Amino acid sequence: MRAIQVKRTGGHEALDYVEIEKPKPKSGEVLVRLESIGVNFVDVYHRSGLYKLPLPLTPGSEGAGVVEEIGDGVREFKKGDRVAFAMSPGSYAEYVVVAAAKLVPIPDDVDFKTAAAAMLQGMTAHYLAISTYPLKGGETALVHAAAGGVGGLLVQVAKMRGARVIATVSTKEKAKIAQEAGADDIINYKESDFEAETLRLTDHKGVNVVYDSVGQTTFDKSLNCVTRRGLLALFGQSSGPVPTFDPSRLAKNGTYLTRPSLAHYIAEREELLWRAREVFSWIGSGKLRLRIDREIPLRDAAEAHRLLESRKTMGKLLLRP
Ligand SMILES: NC(=O)c1ccc[n+]([C@@H]2O[C@H](COP(=O)([O-])OP(=O)(O)OC[C@H]3O[C@@H](n4cnc5c(N)ncnc54)[C@H](OP(=O)(O)O)[C@@H]3O)[C@@H](O)[C@H]2O)c1
Repeated sequence: MRAIQVKRTGGHEALDYVEIEKPKPKSGEVLVRLESIGVNFVDVYHRSGLYKLPLPLTPGSEGAGVVEEIGDGVREFKKGDRVAFAMSPGSYAEYVVVAAAKLVPIPDDVDFKTAAAAMLQGMTAHYLAISTYPLKGGETALVHAAAGGVGGLLVQVAKMRGARVIATVSTKEKAKIAQEAGADDIINYKESDFEAETLRLTDHKGVNVVYDSVGQTTFDKSLNCVTRRGLLALFGQSSGPVPTFDPSRLAKNGTYLTRPSLAHYIAEREELLWRAREVFSWIGSGKLRLRIDREIPLRDAAEAHRLLESRKTMGKLLLRP
């Protein structure tokens, strides 16, 4: 089969389009023929070596396709079923083996592209606004990179919860996307200081929760935007990892700090099925709108990474096997 392979971690050039052997499902596993592949920032970290994985590796943590073959003991799925997954490795390929426990059925009214685009970022928006900090009406959230993949969905889920959303973006075009997603206040953090603006917009009280996926360049100021006993949910590091910091800094406002991962919120089968079902049903009913930035042929995965890392995307990037 054709697949992307990283033999040595590094820049975009580390992504080779190669011919490798089609994998075989073992007990409890399923072979999926991929129809659409989701690109996520975590793939960049696997390629660059920031997150270490054994080499050679095929990047990709998300996809949607058709069950081609099942391993021993798999009862829940059969050949021909339409399935999707997130947080399972090796999806930049024509075929991938996935543990049956990580697969979810795709509802009839959801196509493959939508399924591949919704799984990882959709369930992330779901857990952040519903479980990490269960937002309520009357509360305020600050969402960074609000025109991004997770950001654009998180704004919408936070609005569904009845919260006020302050969004940050880096361009006018992205501000429009954040506005369409439902953000109440939008700060262009290239033009103004987001900490000062957030405090001004909240009468200097701060927000109940900051959802920070940007990391290095935003962390310090994000901390100062949190209200008394509020939460900073640092869930990513698009600008680079946050340096070591002194926890006594949390004492000023009794701030809570968490560094969650989707893996912690879909580890139990029931929880995975619940989150995926809700995300798909919101999409089906039009409550949640996905924005697919573009779809690129699998062989050009390097271009997808270049676009994502250079802040050129607004919404979801997909690869077509
Ligand atoms: N913990 C979890 O469960 C989880 C799950 C999914 C994703 N994540 C993390 O969340 C982050 C966002 O993921 P995503 O796939 O939705 O990406 P994304 O937000 O679509 O893309 C990254 C965005 O971050 C902003 N950014 C700010 N500084 C940047 C820099 N120096 N380089 C690149 N981008 C920068 C850009 O928006 P502006 O131009 O508007 O600033 C950019 O478009 C990633 O760190 C990812 O690993 C975590």
